[in-house]
Amino acid sequence: MPNHCPQSIYKKSLTVLSCNLPVKLIGEFNKRFKEKLLHVPKVRNVIGLEDTGKKKILLSEKFGTQKDQLPEDLQKYIAEKEVEVEEHHLELGYENISCQEALEKIIPEGIIIPSGFESVGHIAHLNLNEDQMKYKKEIGKIIMDKTNSIRTVLTKVGYIKNVYRTYDFEVLAGEETFETTQAEDGVKFDVDVSKVYWCSKLAQERTRVIDQFFGKDDVVCDMFCGIGPLSVRAAKAKGVKVLANDLNPECYHYLRRNIVNNKVADLVLPYCMDAREFVKH
Ligand SMILES: C[S@@+](CC[C@H](N)C(=O)[O-])C[C@H]1O[C@@H](n2cnc3c(N)ncnc32)[C@H](O)[C@@H]1O
Repeated sequence: MPNHCPQSIYKKSLTVLSCNLPVKLIGEFNKRFKEKLLHVPKVRNVIGLEDTGKKKILLSEKFGTQKDQLPEDLQKYIAEKEVEVEEHHLELGYENISCQEALEKIIPEGIIIPSGFESVGHIAHLNLNEDQMKYKKEIGKIIMDKTNSIRTVLTKVGYIKNVYRTYDFEVLAGEETFETTQAEDGVKFDVDVSKVYWCSKLAQERTRVIDQFFGKDDVVCDMFCGIGPLSVRAAKAKGVKVLANDLNPECYHYLRRNIVNNKVADLVLPYCMDAREFVKH
């Protein structure tokens, strides 16, 4: 939970309907009405009722607390099996709300709530605007708390200015570790986002290019290859030979590592040259 946000802002009371069912009916009920049960993070929707041989199943809050507001099929089941239905009260807190709900609690109206982020391995990176930056630490902490795979949250600051196309960023939450591993179409890439260019959003475009343009006997010349996502994937998927080049020595370092790790050293030759010289060479 963000440090200076009082626990109370996330508190919420919720009353839902529950069905008390004999244990032997629980499996069938769960399967049949899965979509109609309560789904709240860290809340069990099936609760044992001691010494009764029954369990309580919590129904979705969208049906309210009136039995006659329940969907017809559920009402029919309840009537047929003479299921006992009652209200169940819950006190919810920070751990029970979604990332979006938590962000809505701390970002005032009028400021756009970040709707998503780009992820590279364990790193989430955002592009917060000036207004959102006032809540940057809280946003970072909430995203980290609410997304299992994320251990570092960054925001880009300023614009890309250098030839290596790396950007300045600020760590909003979590570990200050920028080297990570990102899988793309089953191929794993080691990458340090502080030293090289990487864009996960281009994965589909790379797939399109590889599928549409490359054939087995081709030799591909990837003049600005970065850490090799297109080069290595093309070699793996199509068996093409690739001459892969990038001016950034850090790209070259990760390119060589990714070639070896993905076992395409016989197909991909790495270079670290200015593209003009590379083409002549
Ligand atoms: C937009 S990035 C694209 C990287 C890669 N194609 C990818 O999709 O991840 C452009 C790359 O060109 C490299 N670059 C910039 N100027 C270059 C030059 N004169 N010769 C070779 N590479 C260069 C940068 O280091 C950067 O990695």
